Amino acid sequence: MFYACIVVLYSLLSICSTNDSKIKHASKPVRLFTEEELQRYDGSEEGQPIYMAIKGVVFDVSTGKEFYGTGASYNALVGKDSTRAVAKMSLDPADLTYDTTGLTESQLQSLEQIFKGTYKAKYPIVGYTSRRVLSEDGSPNTEFKPEDQPSFTIKDEF
Ligand code: HEM
Repeated sequence: MFYACIVVLYSLLSICSTNDSKIKHASKPVRLFTEEELQRYDGSEEGQPIYMAIKGVVFDVSTGKEFYGTGASYNALVGKDSTRAVAKMSLDPADLTYDTTGLTESQLQSLEQIFKGTYKAKYPIVGYTSRRVLSEDGSPNTEFKPEDQPSFTIKDEF
């Protein structure tokens, strides 16, 4: 009897804790950027942080001001989602977009490497583009899952 009680108690506790973590995960607030909002953080305004998105993940790249600030080599990449440009290592204005249509397998692999090895490792995530968080019709994208970034303590703004 005692053993049966322990088993029931343990099962109840594990159900509760699973639900609990699911609820916390689903309700964790994320900052959502529209294209217009992201554009404000293109490094042109003194004192404002510099933001850039890759794969819909918005990074604060202010510490890389020598790459991304006004007049710096990669300034064209910031204030927007530059996924295609990074995948192709291109600064062609036509590639300064989130659109990955027609990228080759090796460009997609290179994108993953830079996304993980440079951006996720070096720069804190500050939010996500609305394109990543929402579906085409504006409803929440049920597939959305925030990226983990254990090397940073993300400031909770809410
Ligand atoms: C002649 C061409 C290029 C040269 C010589 C060059 C050189 C470099 C060097 C030396 C770094 C490493 C800097 C460091 O970690 O201290 C770097 C980083 C980088 N490059 Fe280039 N690059 C070139 C073209 C491009 C192009 C066309 C793109 C287009 C997207 C690009 C995107 C990047 C990015 C995203 C980084 C990472 C910056 C960071 O750490 O935040 N590069 N490049």
